[in-house]
Amino acid sequence: MDSIIVTGNGPLSGQIPIAGAKNACLTLMPATLLSEEPLTLTNAPRLSDIKTMTSLLQSLGAEVTSLQDGQVIAMSSHNIDNDTAHYDIVRKMRASNLVLGPMLARLGRAIVSLPGGCAIGARPMDLHVAALEAMGAEIELKDGYLHAKAPGGLKGAVHELRFASVGATENTVMAATLAKGTTVLRNAAREPEIVDLVRCLRKMGAQIEGEGTSEIVIQGVDRLHGATHPVVTDRIELGTYMIAPAIAGGEVECLGGRMELVTAFAEKLDEAGISVEETEKGLKVARRNDRVRAVNVKTEVFPGFPTDLQAQMMALMCTAEGESVLDETIFENRFMHAPELIRMGADIEVHGGQARVRGVARLKGAPVMATDLRASVSLILAGLAAEGETKVARVYHLDRGYENLVRKLRGVGAHIERVADE
Ligand code: EPZ
Repeated sequence: MDSIIVTGNGPLSGQIPIAGAKNACLTLMPATLLSEEPLTLTNAPRLSDIKTMTSLLQSLGAEVTSLQDGQVIAMSSHNIDNDTAHYDIVRKMRASNLVLGPMLARLGRAIVSLPGGCAIGARPMDLHVAALEAMGAEIELKDGYLHAKAPGGLKGAVHELRFASVGATENTVMAATLAKGTTVLRNAAREPEIVDLVRCLRKMGAQIEGEGTSEIVIQGVDRLHGATHPVVTDRIELGTYMIAPAIAGGEVECLGGRMELVTAFAEKLDEAGISVEETEKGLKVARRNDRVRAVNVKTEVFPGFPTDLQAQMMALMCTAEGESVLDETIFENRFMHAPELIRMGADIEVHGGQARVRGVARLKGAPVMATDLRASVSLILAGLAAEGETKVARVYHLDRGYENLVRKLRGVGAHIERVADE
C-alpha cells in the first residue's frame, strides 16, 4: 500500500484543473443498461471507482471501453446476459447499487447485493426499494441480495421519498424512463449530479421534467437511443481544492469550477474570510488574512452545505481563530477524520453528530491513517498547513475520488510526494 507524505511549505500559487464528477459518472455509466445503442461519456475522471463500475457493467454483459487515457468511456449494452451484481463488487463500492433501477427497467429482473455498511454508516437501501415497489417491482431480500423482478414491466407511480436520497432518486429516475405511464417522484434529491443524469437521459430520448427541484416527472417511453454526454465538473473535488489556499495561504485558481456548483460552500468560505472570485476559467480562491475565522457548519442535502465537504472544512476549522461547531446530519458516523486530526494537534470534541473545533495557531505533522475518501483528503489538506511532515497511510481511499492529487497539489507549490510503503 502507498502513503502520501506532505510537508507544510507555505502559501500556494497557481492553477488546479478540476476533473469530471465521480458521483455523476457513477450514475451515468449504469444508464447504458437502459439502451441497446452506444452511450459515450466524455470528461470522465480517472479514478479507481470508475474502474470498479466498468468491471461491474462488463460482468453484466456490457461492453465498456476506456479511451483517451480514461477521459472517454464508450459503452454498449446491446446484449445483457447476466442480472446479478455480486457482493464482492458491491461491498467495495456502494454506487454499484445504481444498476438496480436500469436492470429492472431493461430486463424486468435484477439481483443486487446489499452493499453492507462502510466507514461512514449503515447506508441501507430501503428508500430505493420503496420507490421501485411503488412502480410495481417485487423485491425480496435473500442471502444478503435484493432479488427484484417486475413481471409485465414497471408502471409509472406517484411516490414521495422519506428522505431526499441521491441514490434512490437516481435509481428511480432511471427505472421510470422505460416504465409504462408517468412517474412523479416527490422529495427528490436536487444534487447537480442528478441534473447531469437527467440531461444525459433526455439526450437518450427520455421524457423528464423538474430535475434540480424536489419534484421530478418522468413520462415512460418504449425505448431509449444512444448519446454522447460530457460529465459535469466535480463539485466535491472543486471544494476540496478551494480549501488548499484557504488552509495554506496564497491564491489558487480552480479551472472549470463554477460558483453554482458550490454556492453554500463558497458562502461559508466567505464568512470564514476566504475570497472566492469567478474568472472566465474557473474560481480563484485566496485567504484574506493570515488566519481564517471559525464558522459553524451544518451539512444538508443540496443546495445546503455538502456532507462530502465536511471533513475538508473541519481541517480548515482546526487552524481557524475561534471555535466552530460542525453538525453532520446526513451520515451517522462521518467524523473518522477527527481522531487523526487530533494526532496533528487539533482540538476537537465529538459528541454524536456534532463536532466542536477550537482552532490552533499551527498543526503539527504526524503519521496518520486514511479511513474513507473524504476523511483522507482532509488529512492531506491539514498537512499542507502543518509544521513538519505528515504521512498519510492507506491512500487507496484517495485513489477512489481524486485523480492525480499529488501532481495537482505539487503544481501549485505543495511539498508532497507519494511513496510505496516498505
Ligand atoms: C451519494 O451517496 C454519494 N455517492 C455520496 O458521496 C454522498 O455522500 C451522498 O450521496 C450524500 O450526498 C455517490 O453519488 C456515488 P444517499 P448515496 O442515498 O446515494 C440514508 C463520496 O464521498 N439512506 O443520499 O448512497 C443513508 O444511510 C460519497 O463521494 C437510507 O437510509 O447517499 C445516508 O445516511 C460518500 N436509505 C443518507 O440516507 C436508503 O435507501 C444519504 O444517503 C438510502 C439512503
